[in-house]
Amino acid sequence: MSEFQSKIKTIEWCKTKQGGYSIMVDQTKIPYAFEKVEIKTLDSMFDAIKTMIVRGAPAIGIAGAHGCALFALELLSKIVPIEDLWQDITPLNINENQRKEFFEELEKGFNYLNSSRPTAVNLSWAIGEQKKIVENSRTLDLKEVCANLINNAIRLENEDIEINKKIGDYGAAVVPKGAGILTHCNAGALATVGYGTALGVVRSAFAKDNTIQVYADETRPRGQGAKITTFELVKDNIPVTLITDGMCSYFMRNKMIDIVVVGADRIAANGDTANKIGTSTVAIAAKYYNIPFYVAAPKSTIDLSIESGNDIIIELRDEEEVTMVNGKRICAEGVKIINPSFDVTDNSLIAGIITEDGIFKPEELKYKLKVSA
Ligand code: MRU
Repeated sequence: MSEFQSKIKTIEWCKTKQGGYSIMVDQTKIPYAFEKVEIKTLDSMFDAIKTMIVRGAPAIGIAGAHGCALFALELLSKIVPIEDLWQDITPLNINENQRKEFFEELEKGFNYLNSSRPTAVNLSWAIGEQKKIVENSRTLDLKEVCANLINNAIRLENEDIEINKKIGDYGAAVVPKGAGILTHCNAGALATVGYGTALGVVRSAFAKDNTIQVYADETRPRGQGAKITTFELVKDNIPVTLITDGMCSYFMRNKMIDIVVVGADRIAANGDTANKIGTSTVAIAAKYYNIPFYVAAPKSTIDLSIESGNDIIIELRDEEEVTMVNGKRICAEGVKIINPSFDVTDNSLIAGIITEDGIFKPEELKYKLKVSA
């Protein structure tokens, strides 16, 4: 079994006597280096998400859950030194005002973290899961509140890999034998805790049929396809060809692509899907050439609270991502830049949404999908 399938967790809680901290692969360094960083405070988690040390919707979600637990520890340590969170059962001697303040600050910190990136709904979903823990822990000792938040973050972390394996298995069933699979951006092990969503489908398909071929879009401006998808697939010995974003219709017309599988950052109730900028261009070309276009995503990426893709907030990022390559300006001074990080693929272009519960047509999400409240 490969390194990515068995050993590497993109983001992981490291438990210590004082509660612990988050440890994650620094994705800004790939493919030049494979390094992990320790994140110990709410502010550094906010920055890690914003600067894309951690990226990819499911991984951002887990980062959010970790960040909530880190902040609870930070607040607790301002009240009392934490010597042994797991063994020390001495009740904390604090007054009602201190408790009230702890919970008020906690909520502010959670909301602040939620503002680090706007498009991937997994972030607010995971913070929402942590808010539920807080609600159910209101009468408990604050050390227990922290322990519950940590344990919940670890639960979400472990479930993510299981979910991705299910997505992989459902998706592999629709991959034709010997298929050319086109993917955009990185929806792999590194965009999740492990295994990946779109690349989870690739991994499961490859385990059954080692004649499949992957075509990875470069994914300008940040190059997640070139830098991260090819890195993962080469490490797993899965055949991958890197193409630039404008090349997809060449490969489609020449019958080298049989199926497209991409990830998602937010899927609206009608199946409209926000994913990395350039995804909808691929979907439009796939429709023209009659190539099925699938979205692979956990249920936590589905936002039934919004009717359509028109309600999805698209993150606008720094213009230097477009104007600069490897620290060098690649365009004339004075040119106007707009840098939307995601686009919305219309539901009519999507053959199916591959989830851990099976594959749904976009119009089925509203009626058939069971999501927890
Ligand atoms: O800006 P990024 O790199 O976080 O964008 C990532 C994507 O668009 C992925 O395709 C999506 O989050 C799905 S990851 C399983």
